[in-house]
Amino acid sequence: MDMVMKGVFIASLKTILLVFLISLLARNAIGVLLNINNPSTYSRDDFPPNFIFGSGTSAYQVEGAATEDGRTPSIWDTIAHREFMGNGDIACDQYHKYKEDVQLMVDTGLDAYRFSISWSRLIPSGRGPVNPKGVQYYNNLINELISNGIQPHVTLFHYDLPQVLEDEYGGWLSRKIVEDFTAYADVCFREFGDRVSHWTTVNEANVFVLGGYNSGNVPPKRCSAPFGLNCTSGNSTTEPYIVAHNCLLAHASASRLYKTKYQDKQHGFVGLNIFLYWFVPLTNRTEDVMATQRANDFFVGWFIDPLVFGDYPDIVKKRVGSRIPSFTRHESHQVKSSYDFIGLNHYTTVYIKDNADAFIAEPRDFFVDMAATIIFKQDTVPTSVFPIEYSSGMQRSLEYIKEKYGNPPIYIHENGQATPSNSSLNDTSRVKYLDAYIGSLLDALRNGSDTRGYFTWSFLDLFELLDGYESSFGLYYVDFNDPDLKRYAKLSAYWYTNFLKGRNISIMEVDQKSILMQSKASHISH
Ligand SMILES: *[C@@H]1O[C@H](CO)[C@@H](O)[C@H](O)[C@H]1NC(C)=O
Ligand SMILES: *[C@@H]1O[C@H](CO)[C@@H](O)[C@H](O)[C@H]1NC(C)=O
Ligand SMILES: *[C@@H]1O[C@H](CO)[C@@H](O)[C@H](O)[C@H]1NC(C)=O
Ligand SMILES: *[C@@H]1O[C@H](CO)[C@@H](O)[C@H](O)[C@H]1NC(C)=O
Ligand SMILES: *[C@@H]1O[C@H](CO)[C@@H](O)[C@H](O)[C@H]1NC(C)=O
Ligand SMILES: *[C@@H]1O[C@H](CO)[C@@H](O)[C@H](O)[C@H]1NC(C)=O
Ligand SMILES: *[C@@H]1O[C@H](CO)[C@@H](O)[C@H](O)[C@H]1NC(C)=O
Repeated sequence: MDMVMKGVFIASLKTILLVFLISLLARNAIGVLLNINNPSTYSRDDFPPNFIFGSGTSAYQVEGAATEDGRTPSIWDTIAHREFMGNGDIACDQYHKYKEDVQLMVDTGLDAYRFSISWSRLIPSGRGPVNPKGVQYYNNLINELISNGIQPHVTLFHYDLPQVLEDEYGGWLSRKIVEDFTAYADVCFREFGDRVSHWTTVNEANVFVLGGYNSGNVPPKRCSAPFGLNCTSGNSTTEPYIVAHNCLLAHASASRLYKTKYQDKQHGFVGLNIFLYWFVPLTNRTEDVMATQRANDFFVGWFIDPLVFGDYPDIVKKRVGSRIPSFTRHESHQVKSSYDFIGLNHYTTVYIKDNADAFIAEPRDFFVDMAATIIFKQDTVPTSVFPIEYSSGMQRSLEYIKEKYGNPPIYIHENGQATPSNSSLNDTSRVKYLDAYIGSLLDALRNGSDTRGYFTWSFLDLFELLDGYESSFGLYYVDFNDPDLKRYAKLSAYWYTNFLKGRNISIMEVDQKSILMQSKASHISH
């Protein structure tokens, strides 16, 4: 998933060469981050007994059955068919294979499965009549999970707005989305809330807004020159702020509905999810340190300040001026405290450099408003997409949230490592990554963070947004060349299983023989 975010920046900065040069200069900064957890220094027993470990996917990325049983296209179907490498027409076919997949979850020892509901499967016209086949599918999946002792953690919106609402009124750009999203949430709470206790309204709200309306690299692909990719319509200076505002109001409205109508009976929890980098100043110059705080205020504060304090951060309001909508007193009141937990997708650490030119630039998009340049340093660790050396960013991020926002309950909804999809089942880089990041999470817990659960992204290899089937994050390999879409456990699946079942997680102990045998039984290289 983080590929979306990387794309956002690459599209936005348009200065890859400059980034590369600056990153060469920045090598000295790495020392701050080196803190790799020693494998096998922790075990599952070190985590609180109620702490939830799971793994996740999203509807468009795994379900397939795109035109079956009354489902209509989402904005992802439309773009994927128009111009993308691959699509989710079949994906992992979880729509038909959910029983098999739940069995794999049992084998892995998951406490919880994070998945999303396809709005256009449940309510094919976006609003109005509910599709009984859609209700039946999610009932089947949820019942299968529950009867196997696995908690469903459900996301309502994971990038896949019904196309019909995009066509009718511009989707999230219009205030009308608030009413339709709330009605959709109502159906979900009513039909599934007796068994689902963890609801996330919007996945990666900040990246959805930036990718969809600022950089134009994900549906609905809106942006305007000189920002983003050659979009046919959009306005990168204004739309991201309008859409973010509508996301917050829709979240607050659905959350309020849950609290007033369902929470007493169903005893569940509602939260919003954002994507979170750990930002480190490129140098100790005051300008870079201040730019780093600004980056946090824009990236995180843009959504989390309204939830916790009832308004956008001052620096965001000051920099964006009249382009950012204001909350009325009533709206501010509704948004504030409209959450039981905050969901975070965290993958890596990036560096922040002050961008002084941005202070006088016009026109401005989100990134010019932020006046900070984001620098990836992946060139230093070519063997893995997300450097394992940056794992302490997990602890630091959680400590930042703890300090800044009064230690709210947190779920790490996504964390994981990318590998090329044609690489072997012997995914040692993913094992090392998970080992280090879960270790860093434990450090944060021991230092007082109220984090309550952790989900790897992703359970299966799936249709990656932005990347199609080129890269994969799965614990389980899916052979997309096999008509049966057979699943194979990677080394990381064995590792996670050992961890979850309280066995020794020393990398050397993990079952190398099993992956070798599976590789030989299939046409997968190793
Ligand atoms: C910044 O200062 C801290 C604390 O003095 C030091 O540990 C770190 O190495 C410095 N970072 C850079 C990039 O100079
Ligand atoms: C941008 O879009 C226009 C109109 O569709 C097209 O002619 C042009 O080639 C595109 N430019 C790039 C760089 O993709
Ligand atoms: C974006 O919207 C602003 C405010 O309405 C307007 O001033 C600006 O010209 C628009 N930009 C584009 C590219 O349409
Ligand atoms: C614990 O968290 C605080 C911030 O909440 C931080 O200042 C401190 O360095 C952390 N302690 C350790 C041992 O990492
Ligand atoms: C995977 O695909 C890439 C790009 O097509 C290719 O360079 C590489 O050799 C392939 N690796 C394997 C193990 O097949
Ligand atoms: C796990 O296995 C490693 C390697 O065999 C061993 O060094 C370590 O002591 C074991 N850890 C535990 C907790 O048993
Ligand atoms: C897996 O990769 C590691 C090094 O990354 C290697 O030591 C090990 O032998 C490999 N195992 C198999 C079964 O290929």
